[in-house]
Amino acid sequence: MPEEKKQAAAGKPAPKAKDVTGKPPARRRRTPPNPRRHDDTPREVLERPVAEAPAKGPALEAKPRPSVRRSPQRSHDVKPTVRHITELKGKRPIVGLTAYDAIMGKLISDAGVDFILVGDSVGTTLLGFDTTIPVTMEDMVRHTAAVRRSNPKCLVVADLPFGEASMSFDRFLDSAKRLMQEGGADAIKVEGGRDLADDIEKLVATGIPVLGHIGLLPQTVKAIGGYRKFGGVREEAESLYTDAISLEEAGCFAIIAEMMEEKVATVLASQVLPPLIGIGSGPNCDGQILVTQDLLGLTAQGVPSFVTPYANLGKEISNALGKYVRDIRETKR
Ligand code: KIV
Repeated sequence: MPEEKKQAAAGKPAPKAKDVTGKPPARRRRTPPNPRRHDDTPREVLERPVAEAPAKGPALEAKPRPSVRRSPQRSHDVKPTVRHITELKGKRPIVGLTAYDAIMGKLISDAGVDFILVGDSVGTTLLGFDTTIPVTMEDMVRHTAAVRRSNPKCLVVADLPFGEASMSFDRFLDSAKRLMQEGGADAIKVEGGRDLADDIEKLVATGIPVLGHIGLLPQTVKAIGGYRKFGGVREEAESLYTDAISLEEAGCFAIIAEMMEEKVATVLASQVLPPLIGIGSGPNCDGQILVTQDLLGLTAQGVPSFVTPYANLGKEISNALGKYVRDIRETKR
């Protein structure tokens, strides 16, 4: 008996059809999201049926067998397109890191990441601000252009700073254009969910690839009164779901999920078509992004609790600098 029939007879749900095409799943038709139609617990609320299985037929064509001689470095040969990032969903975890200058851009690209984010976190990591709010378009264009000059082999995504998306569509478009034309970004990132979805859809239609960002939105820190986890209560989980679906329908090629309850991020990753790239949202997202300075222990203050530092460069630098100062002072004339 075929496996699905056996499982159905045993009262188990049929397993999800496997995509044997290697193509991204077909996009759903746009339907207005309506989280209020659900009335169960957050997990159940979020467990809507996944998009229909792709039709069989030509889909069953044999896929070319991957070469066993391919080294991991060959991933640099893959043309860095947003489509490539989208297609990684379900195949392997996606890796993103932040960079703000040419040296880090090169080091991070050489490490083999899938994309670099020139984040507005430049404000807190390099420029000495307490929040990302003071970061300007000029800052973002300058830092994006510096990363681009390192000729990275991965996708470069630039963050839209505070206020640029919400003033008007023309301002949103102009700012996104500047990041691509003057900064050399391949795509832009914007913080926000359903409220921005219509404008994001227009941007995508113009040819500007957009990386969404939901959950904790650092640009709203003054309004929300501090950094915290999102999705712990039912209304918030529903709201995150609506935001994610709205961004999917607007055409985002991937969505960042920052500081989301792990359970909610896990369900969202299984429900939305674009890859969900987590930061502080648990291990079950389709990929992870981190602020490189946090990863390397290169911060003036501590690092967020969800970060496991892979180096302590702050300490290394201060030891080296201290040694240099002592060596010069102790040199006999
Ligand atoms: O600005 C940034 O670096 C970000 C990441 C934290 C996702 O938005």
